[in-house]
Amino acid sequence: MQPPEVRRRGQAAQAAVDRAKIDLERRLGPSKVMTSPDACASYASDESDIAGRVPDIVVLAESREDVMATLEVAEAREVPVTPRAAGTGRTGGAVCVAGGIVLATHALRDIKEIDRDDLVAVVQPGVVTGDLHAACEKEGLFYPPDPNSLETCMIGGNVAENAGGPRAFKYGVTREYVLGMDACFMGGRAMRVGKRTVKGVTGYDVTALLVGSEGTLGVFTEVTLRLVPKPQEIATILAIFEDVHASGAAVSAIVRAGLVPRCLELLDRATIDAVRAQVSIDPRAGALLLIEVDGDAALIETQVARMGELLLAGKGVIDVVAAQDAAQRSRLWAARRALSPATRKLARHKLSEDVVVPRSRVADLLARVDRIGEETRVRHLTYGHAGDGNLHVNFLWDDDAERPAVERAIELLMRATIELGGTLSGEHGIGLTKAAYLPIEQPSDLIELQRSVKRVFDPKDLLNPGKIFPTQGHRQC
Ligand code: LAC
Ligand code: ZN
Repeated sequence: MQPPEVRRRGQAAQAAVDRAKIDLERRLGPSKVMTSPDACASYASDESDIAGRVPDIVVLAESREDVMATLEVAEAREVPVTPRAAGTGRTGGAVCVAGGIVLATHALRDIKEIDRDDLVAVVQPGVVTGDLHAACEKEGLFYPPDPNSLETCMIGGNVAENAGGPRAFKYGVTREYVLGMDACFMGGRAMRVGKRTVKGVTGYDVTALLVGSEGTLGVFTEVTLRLVPKPQEIATILAIFEDVHASGAAVSAIVRAGLVPRCLELLDRATIDAVRAQVSIDPRAGALLLIEVDGDAALIETQVARMGELLLAGKGVIDVVAAQDAAQRSRLWAARRALSPATRKLARHKLSEDVVVPRSRVADLLARVDRIGEETRVRHLTYGHAGDGNLHVNFLWDDDAERPAVERAIELLMRATIELGGTLSGEHGIGLTKAAYLPIEQPSDLIELQRSVKRVFDPKDLLNPGKIFPTQGHRQC
C-alpha cells in the first residue's frame, strides 16, 4: 500500500512505479516500454504551454492488447496513467501531471476500412486526421471534422476532446461522426460500444459519453466513424469590414437568413495584422469574415449570390470578394490554419480560450471582450468559428507581473460567456487550463454527478488524473 499522503497528491510511490515497470516490460517487451528520463521528457506536455511532470514510464502501444495490459498494470500497481495520441491538445488533456505512465497510442495508425456502401470508416487512434481526410476523399467520401491542426492531430485525441474546427457550422463536430468504438478501461477490460449504423437507441449512449471525456474514462483502440459524400464544389468568400462589430452583425444576418455556409470564420483587426505577412489584406480591414460554401454548382451559385447581397446590405462593410482560384483559397486557409502558432509569436505568453455563445450573441460577446480588454488593460485578439458562436479569445502578455490581470480577464470572459447563455469550451475541452472555472458554468450537484460517473469507470482516480474537475484549493466561484 502507498502512504495516503502520496496518493492524495495524485502521484504513485516510487516502489509502485518500479513494480509497474517490471510488469510492463514482462508483458509488452522492453522495446515498447521507455523509462529513460530523456525519452520520457518529450511525453510530459502538449501544446497548452503547461509544463507537465516527466512520466516515469512511456508505453508505446502497438495493439489493443498493449493498451489493455497497460491499464491492467496501472490499476494493479496503483500508478497513474495519462493517455495520449498526438499531444496537440490546447488545454492540457494529455499533460502528465502525476508522473507514472504515459500511454502513447500514436503507433496504432491503421485506417482499417473505408466502406462506400455503409458510409463508415474504421480507424485506429493514431491516424492523423488530415490523412483520413485524404483517404476518404480518394473514395469520393468526406470526413468533415477539421481541427486546424489537422496535419498533425490524431483521431484518438479528436475523439477524446470532441474536436471541432471551421466546418462545424454546416457539418457539426467530431461527436456527430462517432458511431462506435473499441474502448479499454482501467483494470484492463475492453469493450465494444456503440454501433456501425447511423440509427441506434439501444441502451444508454455510452459512445457519446466517451466522446469528449478527455481521456478520463477510457482509451480507444478503434473508432467507427460516419462519412458523408464528398461535396462537389467549394466557393470561398472574403468579406471585409470596418470593425469587428460590423462583422458580428453580418454573422447574425447570415444565420437569420437561413444560409448554411460550411465555414463562417471571423478575424479581428489584431489577428489580421498578425497574418499580413502571409496574405495581402485590404489595409482598411478592421475585421474579416472568411466564408465557404459547398455543394453542387447550382446550390453554390445561389448561396454565393444571396450571401453577397446580404453582406453588402449590412452596415460597415468595405468589400466582399470571392477567392479567385484554388491557389488564393489555399493561401487564405493556410493563413487561417496557422493563426494559433502565428499569434503565439506576438508576445512571450498567450492564453487562448474557446468560449461559445448562442450564434445570435456573437456581437454581444465581441463587445464584452472589448470592455474586458479596457478594464484589465490586457492585450487581446479574437478570431474563430463565429458561425458557431465559438470564438478564440487570446490574451497576450510579456511581463510576468501582468499575470494577475490576465487571470482576471479570463474570469471576466468566462462569466460574460455564461451570462450570454454560452459555455466555457467549444472544442478544446476543459483539461487543466479551465478546470478551475468549471463551477462558473456548472452547479456543484452536476459536477458531483460527473465525479460519480468517473468513479464507476476509474474508482482509484488513476486515469488521466487532475483533468476536468476542479481540485481542492482551486478558486471556487
Ligand atoms: C483554431 C484552433 C486553435 O481554430 O482551434 O485555430
Ligand atoms: Zn478552433
